[in-house]
Amino acid sequence: MPTPGEFRMNRRDLMAAASACAALPMMNGGARAQPSPVGEPVKAGVSLNVNGEKRSLNLDTRTTLLDALREHLHLTGTKKGCDHGQCGACTVIVDGHRINSCLTLAVMHHDANVTTIEGLGTLDHLHPMQAAFVKHDGFQCGYCTPGQICSGVAMLEEIKSGIPSHVTADLNSPAQVTDAEIRERMSGNICRCGAYSNIVEAMLEVSGRRA
Ligand code: FES
Ligand code: FES
Repeated sequence: MPTPGEFRMNRRDLMAAASACAALPMMNGGARAQPSPVGEPVKAGVSLNVNGEKRSLNLDTRTTLLDALREHLHLTGTKKGCDHGQCGACTVIVDGHRINSCLTLAVMHHDANVTTIEGLGTLDHLHPMQAAFVKHDGFQCGYCTPGQICSGVAMLEEIKSGIPSHVTADLNSPAQVTDAEIRERMSGNICRCGAYSNIVEAMLEVSGRRA
């Protein structure tokens, strides 16, 4: 049985062994690992009620709700920022709850009611939150704005229905719309332009807490 001393390699031996390992694939005729064959995508019929209109799609089951809206229904008001659930640009309202549409598959929302920024208001009849954003200058480049507005609309409903947040001081009383509540509840919506103070002003106005 070799002793530990007999396993000792000097630096030259080690380099030679490493070079031999690196050359192995070339000696093998340059063979590379072949990707395993990819089958046809699995498709499924999905029906969504988008902004009050029933839309039927036949989608690859891996399609996110965000891609279904943007790429298949051409509702490009909902923005793709990070595509990783970190920026909130893709926020839409599904059955009354705000969600990051990049993080969920469209097939999971069969027959759901989806509201996007296009369904909140029109140019002639802005939703109060849209009008307040204009009045308070709640955006600069506007990329985060559809997500901010959808999120803000659902957020005020959450407060109204009594759902507490991490900063709600008194859990025995209905939550109030305050700067702190808005900032906490909107923390998932990032604004790279930093329009936060004006966004808060807009939301306070819609809530009736500030003119
Ligand atoms: Fe969905 Fe950023 S694009 S959270
Ligand atoms: Fe530009 Fe928010 S207005 S990212």
